[in-house]
This record gives sequence, C-alpha cells and structure tokens, in this order.
Amino acid sequence: MEQVQEYISKNQSRFIDELIDLLKIPSVSADSKFKDDVKGAAEFIKAKLIEAGADNVEVCPTPGHPIVYGEKIVDPALPTVLVYGHYDVQPADPLELWTSPPFEPVIKDDKIYARGACDDKGQMYMHVKAFESMMKNNSLACNIKFLIEGEEEVGSANLADFIKDNKERLKGDVILISDTSMLANETPSITVGLRGLSYVQVEVVGPDRDLHSGVYGGAVANPIQVLCEMITSMKDENDHITIPGFYDDVIEISDVERKEMAKAPFDLEHFKKDLQIGDVRGEKGFSTPERTSIRPTFELNGIWGGYTGEGSKTVLPSKAYAKISMRLVPNQNSHKITDLFAAHFKKIAPSSVKVSVTPHHGGEPVVTPTDSIAYQAASKAMEETFGKKPIPTREGGSIPIVALFEQILGLKSVLLGFGLNSDNIHSPNEHYGVFNYMKGIQTIPMFFKYYAEMSKK
Ligand code: BES
Ligand code: MN
Ligand code: MN
Repeated sequence: MEQVQEYISKNQSRFIDELIDLLKIPSVSADSKFKDDVKGAAEFIKAKLIEAGADNVEVCPTPGHPIVYGEKIVDPALPTVLVYGHYDVQPADPLELWTSPPFEPVIKDDKIYARGACDDKGQMYMHVKAFESMMKNNSLACNIKFLIEGEEEVGSANLADFIKDNKERLKGDVILISDTSMLANETPSITVGLRGLSYVQVEVVGPDRDLHSGVYGGAVANPIQVLCEMITSMKDENDHITIPGFYDDVIEISDVERKEMAKAPFDLEHFKKDLQIGDVRGEKGFSTPERTSIRPTFELNGIWGGYTGEGSKTVLPSKAYAKISMRLVPNQNSHKITDLFAAHFKKIAPSSVKVSVTPHHGGEPVVTPTDSIAYQAASKAMEETFGKKPIPTREGGSIPIVALFEQILGLKSVLLGFGLNSDNIHSPNEHYGVFNYMKGIQTIPMFFKYYAEMSKK
C-alpha cells in the first residue's frame, strides 16, 4: 500500500491535469446541443480506463447518452466492487455569474473551478486514478467493474434498462459511489441516506387566449394568481405540507437517533452567513440539518407565465406554469407521492381554471447499512487517510439509481463522497478542492484493501 500511496503523490500533477482535460468537455446531458460532447466525455473515460489497465472497456450506446463500462477481474474468488459514477454535468447557466468560464477550468486557492469539478467528474475520476495506481503497483485487491453513466443529471432514464439487460456482466458484491459530500475536510463522514424525488410540472389555464388586462382585468381569474394561491395553500403556518396523505408513509426517526444526529457538527450562524440570509425557514419542530435530511420537502423550482420580457405589456395571461420537486424520505414512494399531489392539485383547482400535472423523473429514498463489511471497510479507509473516524450522515440530495441497484441487482451501496456542501454543485462557480480530489484517490485503494481483507473472514 505504501507503494500505491507513493505513486499517487508522485503523479499528483498529472492526475490534476487529466481531470482538467475532462472538465474542458461540456458534457451537459440536458441540452441536445452538447450531444457530441457528452459522447466525447464517454470516449475520454474509455481511453483512460484502457490506459489504466481495464479490460472489456466499452462505450455502450443507449437511446439517450452512452454508458461507459470496463472491468478488471483479477481472481474470480475475490470480491467484486462495482464503481458507479456519472460523467454528465448540469447546465452551466447563468454564465454571467461565473468568475471564470465553466468549461475552462482554473485552479484558484487550491480549488479546481469548472462545471462538474465536484459533481461528478472530479469524484468519478478519483476512481479511475485510484484504479490506475493500484494496477501499476500490482495492488488491486478486489475485482472491479466500472459503470459510468451520462444521464444522471436528467434522471438516468436508460440506466435501469441497461442494468436489467446486463445483470450477469454487472454481478458483484457491493456498489461504490463517490457522488456525495462530507461534513468538512476536518470532519470526514460517510453518507448513509439519500432522499427520493418526485418531480412534476403543472399547468394552469384560464381564458383560451391572452387578454388585455384593462379590458378584461378584474373579471376573469388570472392563472398566475390562481397558481400562486394553490401553491401557497400547500404548506400551513408550520411549513407542514398539506397534501392529504403526504406524510402517511414517513418513518419517524426516534429521539435516540435524532440525538445521535445532533452530535454532528453544524454551525447555524455560518450556514446563514454563507447563504447571505437573515434567517432560516422550514418545518416547525425540526433543526436545519434534520430539515435537509430526514424530512420530506415541497419546493418550487421555477414558476412562469405571462409577460416577463423587457419593459411592460399589459396582459392577463392565458397560462401559468410551475416546476415542483418533492424530496422524499424512507418509506415514501415517488409514484404514490406524485399521484397524491396530482389528485390534490386537481381537487383544489377553482372552476375558473383548468389544470394539468405532468410527472417528470423521480427516484426512491435510500438508507444504507453501517453494519456491513463494506461500510466498515470504507470507515476504516477514511479513518486511515483522515486520521479520524468518519461520522455516518444522511444527505438531502438524490441518486435515484441507488435504490434501483438494490432492486435489480440486490446490491447495497457505499456512498463514499469527498465533496463539500460549499462546492457550489449545480450553481455558478462549482469547484472541487485539490485536497478532496487527492484524499479520494488515496482513500479508495484503502477501501479495496480492507474490503478484500474483511470479506475473507
Ligand atoms: N450528486 C448529486 C446528488 C447529491 C448531491 C447527493 C449532494 C448528496 C449530496 C446528483 O448528481 C444530483 O444532482 N441528483 C439530482 C437528482 C436527479 C434525478 C436529477 C438531485 O438530487 O437533484
Ligand atoms: Mn452527482
Ligand atoms: Mn448533480
């Protein structure tokens, strides 16, 4: 292992340069304009996996963006780790808020700035470089399979089918994913829970055409106003969601567990200062860390309608729209929640408007075990590289494929993330610390070593 670690420190600058090359490719999965770049990023990873020593490396086409597969089977008797990550990124706009262009990576204050630096190119690529480091030093302690997709940020629509069609090829013992955050660089943590997601778009239609707001205004329901009223009615004065049945399946956390959770360091003043907000807001009776992890949410992601261009236009619009995301916790189900929402939204619509609800992608919440060999191996690996035992934490974001891995392959995941909440993922000026990138590359081989050792017993 010392040799591996030495190899990693010797190659640090090349590892960073390669990540920078990958970050230059604008692999935005949501925007068809970047389709060729998305493919280009897949080809880049394929080439690097081959260089590192992987076998059977393939860019597998799907009806959407391709999936990169590669493997190294050292010995069928050894355990097999399936590494999942994504090479697609979120759109970079609003571009004017970036201090340097999103696809021209720069290193400032020991952080790499670029779209995808943390989510997930930087974190995914740590695995490629950790693999190279183990291969070049004959230290790969487990079999490894890579499954790197290009549609995570748009809902992984084609990944479930790929997994179903490739069950044999994807056989393994555990899934290893770096696509989450730690509490802080001095406070390592391992994610043991992710929220699910129900995502919908709603349309509210008033009159059959836009009207003159003077000629008709005052006599016809304005769909923007109606939409706002409908939406504000969906939370009560305690910020409790009012959709009937919404909380029915939520597993309430015991006081013991909540006390345990509250031990993780969290600084409310720092949280507010970082976001430049005077106060926080959320469901009554729960702390900020609880509101962002163990409780479900209802959030507007966008709302529009009428005239929003330059100057003014006196119009009473025909239509109004909103996009809404609801984050779910165990044991809620995204389809059930989408149905409950749609039924409620239609029920409360006044007769002055017509409404429709279009479901988008969703995903199920997950909790991962802490008593598994894989978790213990990850914990030991982090303890070794950080000098501190990691704290198990639940996070608010979603990786829908984690629940599907369990359903389809029967495999649990280890969420060994090295990002920070302050890395601005999905925001302008996304970045990833060089410290975090290198710590990840150093920690991953330790995981393989301990996982192999602990599996033997
Ligand atoms: N890597 C994130 C999820 C994440 C971020 C988990 C931080 C924990 C901490 C992932 O790429 C993501 O953005 N997921 C989407 C869901 C998807 C269906 C679009 C999300 O959470 O909004
Ligand atoms: Mn991600
Ligand atoms: Mn993301």
